[in-house]
Amino acid sequence: MRFKKKITLLSIAAALCCGAAGANEAPAEKPWMNSRLGAAERAELAVKAMTMDEKLKLVFGYFGMDQESKKTTRPPESYKQSAGFVYGVPRLGIPHLWETDAGLGVASQAGPDVRHGTALPSGLNTAATWDLKTAYEGGAMIGAEARAHGFNVLLAGGVNLMRDPRNGRNFEYGGEDPLLAGKIVGAQIKGIQSNRVVSTLKHFALNDQETGRTTLNVKIGDQAARMSDLLALQIAKEEGNPGAVMCSYNRVNGVYGCESEYLLNEVLKGDWGFKGWVMSDWGATHSTIPAANAGLDQQSGMPFDLADYFGPPLKEAVQNGWVPQARLDDMARRVLHAMFEHGVVDHPVAAPDLKTLDSAANAAVSLRDAQAGMVLLKNRGNALPLSKSAKRIAVIGGYADRGVMAGGGSSLVYPAGGNAAPELTPKTWPGPVMIYPSPPLKAIQKRLPKAVVAYNDGADPAAAAKLARESDVVLVFATQWTAEAMDVPNLSLPNKQDELIAAVAAANDRTVVVLETGGPVTMPWLPKVSAVLEAWYPGSNGGEAIAGVLFGEVNPSGHLPATFPASESQLPRPALDGYPEVADRRFDVDYSEGAAVGYKWFDLKGLKPLFPFGHGLSYTEFALSDLAAGVKDGVLSAAFTVKNTGKLAGREVAQVYVSPVDTRWEAPRRLVGFQKVDLKPGARVKSSVTVDPRLLAMYDSATKTWRVAKGAYKVILAADAAEAGGGKAASAVVHLEDAVYDVNGKPLGGQAR
Ligand code: BGC
Repeated sequence: MRFKKKITLLSIAAALCCGAAGANEAPAEKPWMNSRLGAAERAELAVKAMTMDEKLKLVFGYFGMDQESKKTTRPPESYKQSAGFVYGVPRLGIPHLWETDAGLGVASQAGPDVRHGTALPSGLNTAATWDLKTAYEGGAMIGAEARAHGFNVLLAGGVNLMRDPRNGRNFEYGGEDPLLAGKIVGAQIKGIQSNRVVSTLKHFALNDQETGRTTLNVKIGDQAARMSDLLALQIAKEEGNPGAVMCSYNRVNGVYGCESEYLLNEVLKGDWGFKGWVMSDWGATHSTIPAANAGLDQQSGMPFDLADYFGPPLKEAVQNGWVPQARLDDMARRVLHAMFEHGVVDHPVAAPDLKTLDSAANAAVSLRDAQAGMVLLKNRGNALPLSKSAKRIAVIGGYADRGVMAGGGSSLVYPAGGNAAPELTPKTWPGPVMIYPSPPLKAIQKRLPKAVVAYNDGADPAAAAKLARESDVVLVFATQWTAEAMDVPNLSLPNKQDELIAAVAAANDRTVVVLETGGPVTMPWLPKVSAVLEAWYPGSNGGEAIAGVLFGEVNPSGHLPATFPASESQLPRPALDGYPEVADRRFDVDYSEGAAVGYKWFDLKGLKPLFPFGHGLSYTEFALSDLAAGVKDGVLSAAFTVKNTGKLAGREVAQVYVSPVDTRWEAPRRLVGFQKVDLKPGARVKSSVTVDPRLLAMYDSATKTWRVAKGAYKVILAADAAEAGGGKAASAVVHLEDAVYDVNGKPLGGQAR
């Protein structure tokens, strides 16, 4: 363990709040150091003081590792095995940028100097909490760890929409709904940046599958994009105010994300008024002049690109006038704006000092997140919570004797205790397949000191079934490793785990399945098992987190942030485009489903999923009632009551959907609001949501406005998307007038003034 217990997050926050002594007293020759001035003014003053070469340095980033194959070495000022580094301007008091991945904790490149951190559960788990406070706290924790490691830029904020449940990076993101994903990821960004560091928002945009990610071309119209992937990014940007945005590898309508005038200059900087900087993904820059003029502000990760496009070629392009001097100034100004705005200059990071970290408190943040996001999918006959009187418990499969699974790729956080299953392959990128050393078996044994808790690794289904037959209760752990740079071939659990579960369930009908998956999987054995807990990738303390929920110390309250399909045939693309990957093959992915992503697609096509979006059970029961929907000054709000009608304390997620009666949307219904409430047994609480008008509108590309059509709308209070469509949920009809909102959802006319 490299972290020493010393001071808490709170004391770090207190130390940060008041700034470096005298930060606002700038010497006369460095007026941009005056923290009383606004970020825009400071950035402007600093740019004026910079030489051309200093500006060029600020817009060019390096990978934080030597690359033998390319004969490049990392800058000596960078941190070993880190994601990136950018030179600041020390002469002017502008610090360097030390960049780390990010979304789930302080990640590390593999190698002898691997960096350890606290891993949050997967992004999907955090989305499944439906709780912005949990998302914020996770962000605040990983931001604090990053700062202690000497980083001031976190490559976090992944909010690519789950258009395909086979996408290998879904575990990093926020699911399929733009409102939920945008709010959750935005809250995490806000938490990260509360440490006076910058977080990115990524990957901009429509990088929704990994197969062929650097070559594929997404085909989608402006309206559909603005109402789906771009809406998730827009909401996350508004909620989190990220200092930087990372443009993506893929092409969109024929143009690379990092040289797309449409995505960068028009949508992000123009329409949304983004003031920070756009950095490329590592290897996503393809040109100098088109990229710079289209809005890319910083090339990242030298030597990942074919050339140093923003090195000497950019200088030449500026000198020749192909890239205006004003544009280079703007690029530098944007980096500086974010640095000033988010405190990177006034509160510079120090050399790594892990003594400032309270690893126990950070582990507790990860544990709370994991437990708030686990989803109880099925619980026949109250098989869960487990009774402490069970005498013979079988724990089978999923490396449960060693730990819990993590997803692979750049987001991988290495735990202090090392990999509990180092023999698993792939061992190299996007591996290693990581099992965090937090074994569920041990956590279960601890809770049942008098019982016989036997473990079987599941390799031989017959032996596992024999153990199951001799046991009172069986817990089968199943894992699905997913990773960056690869998609899964299908939604089946790999390595014949379906057969294992079926064999065990046939031997004992008190079989509980615990899933550790990157995203949705199919479950052919579902009718045969008594309970299923989706534990996602549960982070550094996953074993404890799972045991706490299994034994009812924590009542599960997670709800699915994505639909679990019954089979791949229900998806807009039953076969994944470009799969299996062939190097450098260029192909199109036609998002012809438009904005009808996830449950919207299922509703539109009348498909019954395995588990609907929003689904999640509890050990107690809730009743949703007293729905009262009203429109005031054009703003729709819905009030309702949530009651805990069961015998245990618990948390429910009330979900509000809207379905148009007199007009058509891309799908029958949209989620327009949600509230997670905490209730003691018998308690009730009144709650309400106010609806963002964009969620009631269609986007009009010609006028760049959101248009609400006059007519009746059904407001539905439901526990999940299927209930919302099923006719049993409470509903109320409201009438909306024609109304027009600007591209950011601000009222322009009609009823909403
Ligand atoms: C990933 C990014 C990551 C970057 C730096 C890329 O491969 O797509 O999400 O931030 O590497 O590690």
